[in-house]
Amino acid sequence: MIKVLMVCLGNICRSPLAEGILQSKINPDTIFVDSAGTGAYHIGNLPDERSIAVAKKYGIDITNQKARKFTVQDFDTFDVIYVMDESNLQNILMLARNNVDEKKVHLILNESHPTKNLSVPDPYYGGNQGFENVYKMLDEACTIIANKLS
Ligand code: 4NP
Repeated sequence: MIKVLMVCLGNICRSPLAEGILQSKINPDTIFVDSAGTGAYHIGNLPDERSIAVAKKYGIDITNQKARKFTVQDFDTFDVIYVMDESNLQNILMLARNNVDEKKVHLILNESHPTKNLSVPDPYYGGNQGFENVYKMLDEACTIIANKLS
């Protein structure tokens, strides 16, 4: 079983979409996908209604998810940790205990745009178009991740 963790700030907008999209492309018997946030603001909450809506539009239900905060134990549980942006990357790397932990952490858009170090923009304070853009970026990256892992 390969375990993949998607990480953003609040775990209500971007990483729940990444979790749901990757889950829709893999065999759950061999790959486990989860998500978490670096911040604690939204612990226990459902994904943002705009993320729920854009996922639904593309046939993915993410209403089974509840926000949680990343913990250092996640380095032991997960094989790969995908972060959405540079800030998430720094926050997670600060918690890494050693090189093994550090090597698990990757910017997700480096899968679709290798070595460019692009960020998935935080759509929280914008409108629905931002969520549509985020969906498209994550869908492209998750297709590549699913092919790689399967
Ligand atoms: P996310 O978006 O990191 O993609 O879940 C955000 C959600 C909430 C906040 C910031 C970003 N917030 O500041 O509450």
